[in-house]
Amino acid sequence: MTSPNSSASAGRAALSKIDYACVAPIDDAFLTSAQEIATRLDLPLIAVPVAPRQCTETGLLLQCGEELALQLTGPNAPGPVAVDFGSSHMRHRRQSGHNELLGRAAGVGKKPRLGVVDATAGLGRDSFVLADLGCEVLLCERNTLIQSLLQDGLRRAGLGDLWLQEVASRMSLWCGDSTGAPQLAQGEWDVIYLDPMFPAREKSAAVKKEMALFQYLLSDDAQDQGALLDWALMQDVARVVVKRPPKAEHLGDKKPSHSIKGKAVRYDVYVLRALA
Ligand SMILES: C[S@@+](CC[C@H](N)C(=O)[O-])C[C@H]1O[C@@H](n2cnc3c(N)ncnc32)[C@H](O)[C@@H]1O
Repeated sequence: MTSPNSSASAGRAALSKIDYACVAPIDDAFLTSAQEIATRLDLPLIAVPVAPRQCTETGLLLQCGEELALQLTGPNAPGPVAVDFGSSHMRHRRQSGHNELLGRAAGVGKKPRLGVVDATAGLGRDSFVLADLGCEVLLCERNTLIQSLLQDGLRRAGLGDLWLQEVASRMSLWCGDSTGAPQLAQGEWDVIYLDPMFPAREKSAAVKKEMALFQYLLSDDAQDQGALLDWALMQDVARVVVKRPPKAEHLGDKKPSHSIKGKAVRYDVYVLRALA
């Protein structure tokens, strides 16, 4: 697992570090790990536990406890967001038809142990679904705060039950922009998967808090989405799959080979060669 100090969202450059985010322990027992994470991420440390809804010092708190959780601050702040691959939500998602659509779009079943590069890993849920379907998945994430949540989620999955450990063993993380991932040149990859949109598809409280967080962190990600598809289409892979809202225009106005449509989501599939 590599961890170069890649840039956080460029739009945050105008904010001071303390406006952007601070690290704090959830209780005194986690002070040392909070210090280590603050140093690693080059963020200010608040050395005492703070309640995010009463916090006025910073826009975002990375809280260190048994798990890492990221939370917006202020009186109306939504709840904390962590990566928990063993959650009931992820276990339920496993059974749903939504997963089949993603698997079909990627070409699961056409080749054993499909290699998928998730070039916009986010909280890693789609990656986890693909790994659960048997794919070898490289997760690429360029935002340093989201990287730290992913690293923590993968670490805890590696300590979980046998199913979690087995799925996590098929997932690896590149901390940086996907266009610079050295693993792409080193290995054979079948599919590049892109989900550049904000997760505004479900209306549950869990998804609303994640959406608020992503909107704070990634306000100007939209600018380079078309360029990311152009880059993906130039790589040596059999297909590129793009997740879109059902009625959205094609990314970068590029017509896919075919689309797989569900109620809440559409997968645009760009076939470059046969999967073999
Ligand atoms: C909408 S989220 C993806 C959600 C994800 N599919 C999931 O299941 O949790 C998009 C993520 O892609 C990341 N991202 C966007 N462009 C990227 C790039 N060029 N390289 C690496 N990460 C990128 C953003 O930082 C953000 O975390």
